[in-house]
Amino acid sequence: MKRLTPIVLLTVFLFFTGYSYAMAQNTGKKSMVLNGGNKGIVNFEHHMHQAIAKDCAICHSLFPQTPGSLDQSKENGTIKAKQVMNTVCLKCHRDMKKAGEKFGPVSCSGCHTK
Ligand code: HEC
Ligand code: HEC
Ligand code: HEC
Repeated sequence: MKRLTPIVLLTVFLFFTGYSYAMAQNTGKKSMVLNGGNKGIVNFEHHMHQAIAKDCAICHSLFPQTPGSLDQSKENGTIKAKQVMNTVCLKCHRDMKKAGEKFGPVSCSGCHTK
């Protein structure tokens, strides 16, 4: 039993460090509905894209990790209308299509729904 104690303690330690690491990062909603202006809403799988993109900064270097930040950033002029759509969303989808990999929609109606 004495020999087991350090192993048990280590296991508990590793469990809690892993747990608190996961808790420290707020990954936001699993899926969300984005404002696509007069073209209609965009249903967006946030967690699926986190797995594909791997780096949060691919999107969040342009707008913060807060609800509504996309519209707020357009309002305060940090980003232009359609900037994220063209330079992030469409860019990656087109690049992956070119590379012959699984890709997301590249046509308007593939993303926008009324
Ligand atoms: C492919 C683009 C993309 C990637 C990659 C991405 N996000 Fe997001 N994230 C968004 C969009 C779009 C929003 C919605 C902003 C808004 O509401 O205007 C958002 C919102 C959020 C929010 C706000 C809370 C919410 O649920 O509305 C959090 C927190 C967040 N992201 C965390 C992360 C973290 C952590 C990562 C990396 C592990 C990440 N995001 C990767 C696009 C992305
Ligand atoms: C890969 C998904 C995707 C595709 C494909 C796409 N859009 Fe978008 N669109 C978005 C997202 C996300 C936003 C909101 C962020 C932004 O404005 O960059 C948006 C925003 C818009 C807006 C509103 C901009 C504003 O703030 O007023 C218009 C208009 C628009 N798109 C038109 C189009 C048209 C036209 C096409 C086809 C040529 C198209 N979109 C294709 C994702 C997409
Ligand atoms: C790093 C690359 C990358 C970025 C950035 C990216 N996407 Fe995608 N997206 C993909 C890939 C790959 C798929 C296809 C996934 C699959 O079919 O398994 C996809 C699929 C989609 C789909 C279809 C989902 C479904 O249910 O079939 C939509 C809608 C979409 N993306 C919207 C967006 C929007 C909006 C943004 C920007 C906020 C964005 N994507 C940014 C790579 C990306």
